[in-house]
Amino acid sequence: MKRKVAPYEAEKRCQAQVILLHSWHMNTGQETWTAVDGFLDQSLLTSDPVLDAALEASAAAGLPAIQVTPCQGKLLQILAQLHRARRILEIGTLGGYSTIWLARALPPGGQLITLEVSQKYAEVASRNIARADLSSLIDLRVGPALATLPKLAAEGRGPFDFIFIDADKETTPDYFSWALKLSRPGTVIVVDNVVREGAIIDAGAHAGVQGTRRMLESIANTPGLSATAVQTVGSKGHDGFAIAIVGAHAPH
Ligand code: SAH
Ligand code: DHB
Ligand code: MG
Repeated sequence: MKRKVAPYEAEKRCQAQVILLHSWHMNTGQETWTAVDGFLDQSLLTSDPVLDAALEASAAAGLPAIQVTPCQGKLLQILAQLHRARRILEIGTLGGYSTIWLARALPPGGQLITLEVSQKYAEVASRNIARADLSSLIDLRVGPALATLPKLAAEGRGPFDFIFIDADKETTPDYFSWALKLSRPGTVIVVDNVVREGAIIDAGAHAGVQGTRRMLESIANTPGLSATAVQTVGSKGHDGFAIAIVGAHAPH
């Protein structure tokens, strides 16, 4: 049976509801970002046993869970598809999660080269890539990327259509220079983690942020590059991507 609510109590309840509603609308913290990411994944991304298995195997092997989010992986895939990228370079493989998203954008005959310093991570990635049935498209090179990149150049592997930079942040300016050397007019370069919870605006922040700041400066000082950056929030917190496209007059 419904109990009749005294007017005062009803008003209190109503106030509580208004506060709840208000706090919902004002809710801009990590919990909301994570919940919204979950909602968007569920709404737009079809469940994918191969990607789930890659995440599980990476976690089981003790890899840090610092891969792109599912929606970010899909963003990378869509960017590569939009660009009809046939040759993709990735710096920073981890367990191959972003690698799988990107490789799935490749047309027949396309190829992706991904660079990873850790033998252990590379072994996990290699198994994840095999499970995704992508081994024939992906060339995973183990070693410090700064040692591998000159080898790729010497082998005549460039130019790449799409380059994703996502390794140690201190070295990002060097990776960006190599990306330009391995580019052609029209190459798209995406760099992960350019915001780091806002630390990017702190000139005294740690070495990783310093690296990212120098990379942004070098983008700005390179003629013939057109670039932007977008902040992101989601299950990985507040961060962002820089996106540059190489123009006709950029140095290679
Ligand atoms: N792109 C991955 C995440 C990469 S995390 C994804 O989103 O799924 C960054 C990776 O860069 C780590 O696996 C780390 O081992 C690797 N890394 C760090 N220093 C490196 C170096 N000098 N050369 C190549 N890879 C490096
Ligand atoms: C972290 C996140 C990344 O995307 C990355 O490439 C490296 C580190 C992090 O959250 O620590
Ligand atoms: Mg990253």
